[in-house]
Amino acid sequence: MDPRLIVALDYPSADPALALADQLQGLCRWFKVGLELYLADGNAIVHQLRSRGFSVFLDLKFHDIPNTVAGAVRSAAATGAELLTVHAAGGPDMLEAAAQAVACLPNPPQLLAVTVLTSMDQLQLAAIGIDHSPETQVVRLADAASEAGINGFVASPEEVAALRHRFPTATLVIPGIRPAGADVADQKRIATPAAALAAGASYLVIGRPITQAPNPVAATQAILEEMQHATVPLVANAIL
Ligand code: C5P
Repeated sequence: MDPRLIVALDYPSADPALALADQLQGLCRWFKVGLELYLADGNAIVHQLRSRGFSVFLDLKFHDIPNTVAGAVRSAAATGAELLTVHAAGGPDMLEAAAQAVACLPNPPQLLAVTVLTSMDQLQLAAIGIDHSPETQVVRLADAASEAGINGFVASPEEVAALRHRFPTATLVIPGIRPAGADVADQKRIATPAAALAAGASYLVIGRPITQAPNPVAATQAILEEMQHATVPLVANAIL
């Protein structure tokens, strides 16, 4: 078991998601529920996972006006999820509204600001009017989130070292992880589990390399083995 591994349950219904969670009992503590699964099963999937003793990262990536996001964050927190995402691109007022909404709660979840999606590269950014590098954009968005009081970020493995240097105590949650030889699929800015941890990641989010593997338990065990042998900077060990 390694508390730094978060398995992304990107499934269309609860049955396969819970079947995988049950298979990984003892190997994995965290599961990520994203839009596909949440829209299919709602809060029930979060409750089912929590009743099995797992921690839940509810990754709904809120991006709306400040008042709407504050309300969404409160509703998401009421599910018992311990990690929640908002898009940093929603702007300083939205980020502040989200941070204030969780600050008022008795058992606040940790908020994570999503910077630049791991599927975006320079060309994709240019197509939406952003003419600087992914790393520059990630740092700019993380600065905005940090100023709003959010000390957790989602970014790609390529920006972990820069973020860890700038934010020594931040929670850095890193998707776009591909063990050597795994299918890259739609991800663009990727690294192996060991490289992401060595750069300063707090948590690794891994989906298809486990969920699409012929033997998900064996795939998870191989990833855990690689994680155990990674050299990590001391500051990156602060996890929930
Ligand atoms: O299957 P794969 O390992 O690529 O899954 C990565 C997961 O991380 C997906 O659930 C995706 O929504 C999520 N994610 C990401 N990039 C971000 C934030 C979240 O890939 N910036």
